Amino acid sequence: MLDKSPNKPAVNVPNDLAAFWMPFTANRAFKKAPRLLAGAEGMHYITTDGRKLIDAAAGMWCTNAGHGRKEIAAAIGNMAQTLDYAPPFQFGIPQAFELASRIADLAPKGLDQVFFCNSGSEAADTALKIALGYHQISGNGSRTRLIGRERGYHGVGFGGTSVGGIVNNRKMFGSLLAGVDHLSATYNREKQAFSKGEPEWGAEIADELERLVNLHGANTIAAVIVEPMAGSTGVLPAPKGYLKRLREITQKHGILLIFDEVITGFGRLGFAFAAERYGVLPDMITFAKGVTNGAAPMGGVIVRDTIHDAFMTGPDYAVELCHGYTYSAHPLACAAGLATLDIYRDEKLFERANKLEAKFADAVMSLRGEPNVVDIRTVGLTAGIDLTANKEGPGKRGFECLNKAFHDHDMMIRVAGDTIALTPPLIVSEDQVGEIVEKVGKVIRAVA
Ligand SMILES: Cc1ncc(COP(=O)(O)O)c(C=O)c1O
Repeated sequence: MLDKSPNKPAVNVPNDLAAFWMPFTANRAFKKAPRLLAGAEGMHYITTDGRKLIDAAAGMWCTNAGHGRKEIAAAIGNMAQTLDYAPPFQFGIPQAFELASRIADLAPKGLDQVFFCNSGSEAADTALKIALGYHQISGNGSRTRLIGRERGYHGVGFGGTSVGGIVNNRKMFGSLLAGVDHLSATYNREKQAFSKGEPEWGAEIADELERLVNLHGANTIAAVIVEPMAGSTGVLPAPKGYLKRLREITQKHGILLIFDEVITGFGRLGFAFAAERYGVLPDMITFAKGVTNGAAPMGGVIVRDTIHDAFMTGPDYAVELCHGYTYSAHPLACAAGLATLDIYRDEKLFERANKLEAKFADAVMSLRGEPNVVDIRTVGLTAGIDLTANKEGPGKRGFECLNKAFHDHDMMIRVAGDTIALTPPLIVSEDQVGEIVEKVGKVIRAVA
């Protein structure tokens, strides 16, 4: 029986932290020493106790145009008053079509079709399902195997978790999808430590795909999904030539290549998409986060036109792809997306990130030599700083960094285990890069 005791209030007292089971959070530690946010403007968050934190994480790789953008807020507000909700199955809104065209324009030529969903996780699962469906309708139904990569992150759906390569995200959830295999991570500290940009060593790791093809047979493999830069496991840029090599091998064997650009999309690496930076044309690109500057949930998949066209058969009254979400192309998200793309274009933020990359890399590399720093990696406006674990075990020092940054140094960072990830909004100034690096140095010394 549920406890309906009259002594238990129906609604907990205001500000009681008990009821919210927080995602990907150390709940008990948080509730003892909360990190509560109340507002945000430009490069800063405002805490509930009125402190101004510099945002070295773009929220969570989301707010590339900085916080509190009035144009985006106005677009969302106007849309909410005009059209609160519209069913995306069998009906459409003009803003969804406009946004799809604008995203396709930013994507490499040939990737012309956009499928909308609400998050990066849904985008990853959607892309995997499109790959399976494509092979099925093309008469290659034996191609069902999906290949991800160790240390990859593709969200938390069953598809994304299965192709993902983070053991803590997988180990509680049983056997996950059948028929999934993984490439090795591209990181090797001995060979790559303290590389700026794409490491020189590591293109040959892509050849592992040949091994998997030999093991399973090419005609059982549907798709390979990788992040051009693995973000969530601590910023692992692709080695030079790695993605090209992966493209060559997938092409040779009729395997689809999916780039998960949930983090790298919309300017993080100095281009609209990382595919452009690397001159590699995948078959699909997933996106989320930066598409709305984080102001409304939205994700999606950009699909090669030939894949889309393969579905467009049979009677034209029949649904071609039995997949979609109640909130696909939600009016508020579409409005936010259009306003966001205007800002990216008008303020040339992708180019800005590109121009700032070298200075950002130099600034972060100056932390080499700080206590316990064993590697620093940079690419675009993103950096990963590896610290050694302290004696209490992996993750404790990183967690202390997060807390020290928030409580003592007025800064928001992201940590992955004992790696600090810096990934500020693309509007960050050179002075603010300096401020972030100085504060990170203090944090690292504070946890030594
Ligand atoms: C590469 C990548 N894919 C997918 C996801 C999942 O996105 P979401 O949390 O919006 O589901 C993330 C989130 O960080 C990501 O970095």
